[in-house]
Amino acid sequence: MRLQNKIAVVTGAASGFGEAISKRFAAEGASVLVADMNADGAAKVAEAILADGGKAAAFTVDVTNSEQCKAMIQAAVSGFGGLDVLVNNAGVPQRIGLFQNVAEDVVDKIFDVNVKSWLLTTRAALPHLEARGGGSIINTASIAGLRPRPGAAWYNASKAAACSLTLSMASELGAKNIRVNALCPVAAETPLFRDVVGEITEETRNRFLAGIPLGRLATPADVAGAAVYLASDEASFLSGVLLPIDGGRATL
Ligand SMILES: NC(=O)c1ccc[n+]([C@@H]2O[C@H](COP(=O)([O-])OP(=O)(O)OC[C@H]3O[C@@H](n4cnc5c(N)ncnc54)[C@H](O)[C@@H]3O)[C@@H](O)[C@H]2O)c1
Repeated sequence: MRLQNKIAVVTGAASGFGEAISKRFAAEGASVLVADMNADGAAKVAEAILADGGKAAAFTVDVTNSEQCKAMIQAAVSGFGGLDVLVNNAGVPQRIGLFQNVAEDVVDKIFDVNVKSWLLTTRAALPHLEARGGGSIINTASIAGLRPRPGAAWYNASKAAACSLTLSMASELGAKNIRVNALCPVAAETPLFRDVVGEITEETRNRFLAGIPLGRLATPADVAGAAVYLASDEASFLSGVLLPIDGGRATL
């Protein structure tokens, strides 16, 4: 198993990519704290992992709240005995619209959750990663941070900040043997995607597919596979990688 004896915290783990990452991590031998503001969803994911013989616990957290982030990391450390991997995956979308029409409070929320929360989660996690001699931080950015499409300017900007922050974190934390990498998926039909485009019609799907050489959208399994690799010791010399999981979209 590729993550045997590793202890991971995954945020935004109640559905979509975070759910798939949590389940794959557990299947690869990790103990996983399934953290989300959706308490019921997180509990269901943790229960499914336990039912499959894996190690997991659910934790309810709002990643924009500093005290709750500290408590989340503490729950992993006291429940499982340490911390090796932090997956900053919680995120919120922007409904399709022109940048000048987006409300200020929506912009604030996008940046609070998609960018600023990493300060709170990571600051709480760092002493514990250091105590284990290093670790892996995996940030869910998006291909939107590297190749923005029209209609989601503030979301795109938050993911561009996420990519930049990943590089800065990697450069500052390397000396502590803490690797920092970003997942950059293309669109996938998770609940978040439905919040962006509304009802997913044939026309919407085809518009997205037209920009993807491999001819399909991403799946949570695609993202989870990449996350397992970045969390594992196979990736021990990878840091500062902004990894497209995009069927070739970034080539166009
Ligand atoms: N689905 C896509 O097309 C796509 C593409 C690229 C990147 N992403 C990114 O992937 C990540 C996961 O998204 P997803 O598509 O799996 O969507 P999702 O809606 O299935 O999952 C997002 C999760 O984040 C949680 N969350 C939101 N705000 C939170 C907060 N303040 N505190 C704690 N939890 C919070 C939600 O409850 C939800 O369970 C996000 O960062 C998203 O921006 C998604």
